[in-house]
Amino acid sequence: MENIDKLMRSFIVDLGEGDIVSLYDNISQQGKKLRSKLIFEIAKTSRDATKLAAIVEMIHAASLLHDDVIDDADTRRGEESFNAKFGDKSAIMMGDILYSAAFSKLSEFPSAVAACVSNAVALLSAGELADVKLSEFFNTDKNRYMEMIYRKTASLIEASAYAAAVLEGFEGRDFGIYGKNLGLAFQIIDDILDITSNDKTLGKPALHDFKEGKMTLPYLYMYEACEEKEKKYMTTLYKKSLNSYEKDWIKNKMKEYGVIMRCIKEARNLGGEALGAIEKYNMDGLKNIIRQMVERDF
Ligand code: FPP
Ligand code: MG
Repeated sequence: MENIDKLMRSFIVDLGEGDIVSLYDNISQQGKKLRSKLIFEIAKTSRDATKLAAIVEMIHAASLLHDDVIDDADTRRGEESFNAKFGDKSAIMMGDILYSAAFSKLSEFPSAVAACVSNAVALLSAGELADVKLSEFFNTDKNRYMEMIYRKTASLIEASAYAAAVLEGFEGRDFGIYGKNLGLAFQIIDDILDITSNDKTLGKPALHDFKEGKMTLPYLYMYEACEEKEKKYMTTLYKKSLNSYEKDWIKNKMKEYGVIMRCIKEARNLGGEALGAIEKYNMDGLKNIIRQMVERDF
């Protein structure tokens, strides 16, 4: 993973602008690098795996820089966000730099790889727009949520797996299905953790999504399960800064209706779909990625 960080930095150094490198060094490197892990597990022998991983991580980092501006987020991974430190303008421009440097390197890859990654970035951007739009009202449509998380989160994970498979000479489609389902499960788990974790572990306040207007899967299922009176009360809490009584009410209703367990099961099913797609390759590393994700404490 260190090699990826080095390569990403060297792509920025190649731009020949000292100021940009100094600014770049302020971006947090604390991410989990899920997409890179996936690429290394699939493209085990390809010489270009590190380069692909660096490109994908740069795109991901660019999208988070922009996302924190869009979400007006002060923290990222428990640290002060880049936009909070240097302002929205610098965050947007730094995102543009990362994104375009990554694309310039991506163009050196075979077209099947370049096409799938660049297409994923278009989906990613459309997914972010859908996320913003869906946060403007009390959405109760699960299909719209699933379609949004596919584009916002799963598309780049799907493309990472697909592209890595192409580099290794495997059938891209099987690994794309694996990546897509892994990505969907990942986002659902992230949405569960927003409710079940505390502020310190999350690096942002818990139950933040609901305040931001995001009707994630647990809220969709909770609303579905609630009685009419409870449904009404729930809508009065939407987008509000919740006091501890209101937070507890939401958590208790979720407990009463088995909402978190239902979401965990859904994430596990998606994990199962992912594993099914790559069964014939017998790759323990890919199995472990799914296991570590879905068999954890919530
Ligand atoms: C995080 O979602 C956001 C994303 C995964 C995608 C953001 C995509 C863009 C801003 C499109 C622009 C793309 C480029 C390449 C410049 P979240 O807000 O639910 O998660 P969080 O809690 O980590 O902020
Ligand atoms: Mg965000």
